Amino acid sequence: MQTVKIAVIAGDGIGTEVIPEGIRALEAAGRQCHLEYEWTHFDWSCETYHKTGRMMPEDGLEQLKAFDAIYLGAVGFPGVPDHISLWGLLLPIRRAFDQYVNLRPVRLFDGVPCPLANKQPGDIDFYVVRENVEGEYSAMGGIQYEGTEREIVSQQSIFTRHGTDRILKYAFELAQSREKKHLSSATKSNGIYHSMPYWDKRVALMAQQYPEIKVDQYHIDILTANFVQMPEHFDVVVGSNLFGDILSDLGPACTGTIAIAPSANINPEKTFPSMFEPVHGSAPDIAGKNIANPLGTIWAGAMMMQHLGYPEIHDTLLNAMESVLRNKNSLTHDMGGTASTQELGAAIVEQIHYGQ
Ligand code: NAI
Ligand code: MG
Repeated sequence: MQTVKIAVIAGDGIGTEVIPEGIRALEAAGRQCHLEYEWTHFDWSCETYHKTGRMMPEDGLEQLKAFDAIYLGAVGFPGVPDHISLWGLLLPIRRAFDQYVNLRPVRLFDGVPCPLANKQPGDIDFYVVRENVEGEYSAMGGIQYEGTEREIVSQQSIFTRHGTDRILKYAFELAQSREKKHLSSATKSNGIYHSMPYWDKRVALMAQQYPEIKVDQYHIDILTANFVQMPEHFDVVVGSNLFGDILSDLGPACTGTIAIAPSANINPEKTFPSMFEPVHGSAPDIAGKNIANPLGTIWAGAMMMQHLGYPEIHDTLLNAMESVLRNKNSLTHDMGGTASTQELGAAIVEQIHYGQ
């Protein structure tokens, strides 16, 4: 019997409601493959911040290092400014563990009502590859003459050759492994003078190494419109930290609900643990109501198993999701149903058993 060691940070709001369902589904799928999990729970959250003044302890990263992977719910809650919760937990983990790839699949499932007209399951099936550790999300810059009429604010974006090339390489490799072999790059080189022309140049150079891949690029403004108007065009979409963040909410929204979308923060070299989470946040508006959709968390768990080398567990979970959605069995309110978080989680577990 093999064992994987997972650090669990349920976090805030609905994070604490969806994570138990993710664990339940992973346990059920793991049992069939004779895999055991060792779950270690960390109560790091905004609540912890209120008690201790920190989102995680000073040696938090050190504590996480030894795990095979990190399974995260969501962090952030009213009462703690979002930049404190994000920079106190999520971003340090992504950066210290060099999780430079943020991989987010976008897929239209049979059974989930699509807000776009005349789209069939299969029409929308692509990946957003987001650069995850540099770019626009930087703490460089500052405020001068604060509080006066002369107030000056500057915010620096950071694009390194190393950081740009490695995310592009990951995206090109992913495109290479897919049938369509098509890569779209998000840019804004008409408005952003230095970093985006640089990004375009590195894309063009990388493309020379992948002659089989069809490459196109779009300015981010028209790209968002194209996600809505022709989502079937896309296969692998690569973007900087900010553009990737925006696109990876928009993509899943075009497939019906952001609540089923997963997000994998990957350190491809496996030098450090990677982190898997749903795309959505802590949803304070529905927290405590027991109606949160756990599928984003379950799919994130599936991606975690794929990364750890258990593709059969990934497939078992995805098949169960597909079949529960297709049969419109126990859907939560965001997908037009009335089921509770646990009812949908239980339907997945039942399907895993039934599917065998
Ligand atoms: P959100 O994703 O929490 O909520 C947006 C909307 O989607 C809400 O109406 C919510 O009810 C709905 N929703 C989200 N997840 C759902 C689910 N599983 N089932 C059903 N409905 C769902 O985004 P928002 O409101 O911008 O952020 C709330 C808090 O979460 C903030 O503090 C924010 O910083 C944090 N956040 C954390 C993230 C993370 O931990 N990676 C990601 C995004 C936001
Ligand atoms: Mg986001």
